[in-house]
Amino acid sequence: MNNIKLIELISHGDNRGSLIALEKEHNVPFDIKRVYYIYDTKRGVPRGFHAHEDLEQMLICVSGSCKIKVDNGKEQEVYELNTPEQALYIGKMIWREMYDFSQGCVLMVIASQYYNPKEYIRDYNKFIEIVNGGG
Ligand code: TYD
Repeated sequence: MNNIKLIELISHGDNRGSLIALEKEHNVPFDIKRVYYIYDTKRGVPRGFHAHEDLEQMLICVSGSCKIKVDNGKEQEVYELNTPEQALYIGKMIWREMYDFSQGCVLMVIASQYYNPKEYIRDYNKFIEIVNGGG
């Protein structure tokens, strides 16, 4: 799907353990303005259900696993994130839903813009209208 990419991250491991670095331009394809993480997630409780007109994100499940459903208004795909060595890049105008969080899951999100609740598209019908050139 356009605007969605699974990125393999290079892990620097040695006998002490592993380390992954995220750097603008090297493995993060945008200017990093914000990082947040979702943790202490409750079993069976989904999150997300929104899209953004002008926000790019990278999602990394640094611990545990979860599923991400992405939808560009025409097609839908589901990704399972279950390793800190992969990131899911989500570009602009993608509806996303996160669910099936494992116990202890920590989902880290790197974003290209500061938090702005006003730019959220939280109504799926409105999202469809915008991707089809209306709205
Ligand atoms: P919410 O958008 O509901 O989370 P999700 O995308 O997982 O469904 O955000 C949960 C709360 O956190 C809500 O009160 C807004 C706040 N929040 C911030 O203050 N800053 C942020 O960067 C984000 C993403 C959320």
